[in-house]
Amino acid sequence: MIARKAPARPLAKFPGSLLLVGAGKMGSAMLDGWLARGLNPKKIMVIEPQPSKAIKALTRRGLTLNPKGKVAPAGAIVIAVKPQSAPEAVPPLAPFVGKTTLTLSIMAGRTLAFLQASLSAEAAIVRAMPNTPAAIGRGITVAVPNAKVSARQRKLATDLLAAIGAVEWVSDERLMDAVTAVSGSGPAYVFLLAETMTKAGIAAGLPPELAARLARETVAGSGELLHRSDLDAATLRQNVTSPGGTTAAALEVLMGSGGFDELLTKAIAAATRRGRELAG
Ligand SMILES: NC(=O)c1ccc[n+]([C@@H]2O[C@H](COP(=O)([O-])OP(=O)(O)OC[C@H]3O[C@@H](n4cnc5c(N)ncnc54)[C@H](OP(=O)(O)O)[C@@H]3O)[C@@H](O)[C@H]2O)c1
Repeated sequence: MIARKAPARPLAKFPGSLLLVGAGKMGSAMLDGWLARGLNPKKIMVIEPQPSKAIKALTRRGLTLNPKGKVAPAGAIVIAVKPQSAPEAVPPLAPFVGKTTLTLSIMAGRTLAFLQASLSAEAAIVRAMPNTPAAIGRGITVAVPNAKVSARQRKLATDLLAAIGAVEWVSDERLMDAVTAVSGSGPAYVFLLAETMTKAGIAAGLPPELAARLARETVAGSGELLHRSDLDAATLRQNVTSPGGTTAAALEVLMGSGGFDELLTKAIAAATRRGRELAG
């Protein structure tokens, strides 16, 4: 088992100011994580048309909300608006982009080329795809840099993204459609598993509330076990399966023709194709 480490404070010495654009679900989760990791609210600017009470309260600790007047380049800009808001939200950020500014976007489907065209051809940009467990600091984000991103900026992007969970890097942006299909959309597949287990439990005779609780805790507990264990998923599965037993009977169905493997492979291929279509 892996022991959980105490949160570090890698952002305590963050260089310059950090501009967060869009403080909705994802942006707010990131902001909470940055504060927990030592970022001084005085260094943070937030552009958000409908700020939460928590963000308004942070202005008393020095956070700047919806900055006005003369603009200076930021140390980093994090773009967390919906992709459809990008044409209106991104071009006005150009004055915040200086020679050493890192721009980090978590907008689904908005490419590095789009961001460069909207900001500057010289801008150092990281495109990233998080997922919803980010809300509890347990997401996984995959990031891809453009050619202008330095080693220092890559480290900075990792520190900013680590505030909402694990971080992986790829160098080929075309992989982002498959990433979106696996980890971006992935939480929906896991929630569907819990829903389906509930329905199947009811069909097998369990009271609905008990079926829902068994499904929920089984998915959550197994996820946590997988998270903490050094063993891979296949080994953990085999550890629950005795030959000729009940689990084996279920797995024969799930792993047989038309089963889980086939369905998920098809589902992830469909999501990957849709990602490509949406990117145009
Ligand atoms: N949620 C996910 O599972 C997930 C996973 C991966 C990636 N992402 C990406 O994360 C991004 C944010 O998603 P979310 O779920 O956090 O969305 P969200 O809750 O809707 O947050 C977006 C925020 O941006 C604000 N906004 C809109 N226009 C703006 C502008 N011009 N300038 C500044 N702020 C503006 C919105 O305000 P209003 O409400 O007033 O419009 C809203 O508060 C999206 O691009 C999404 O693709 C999300």
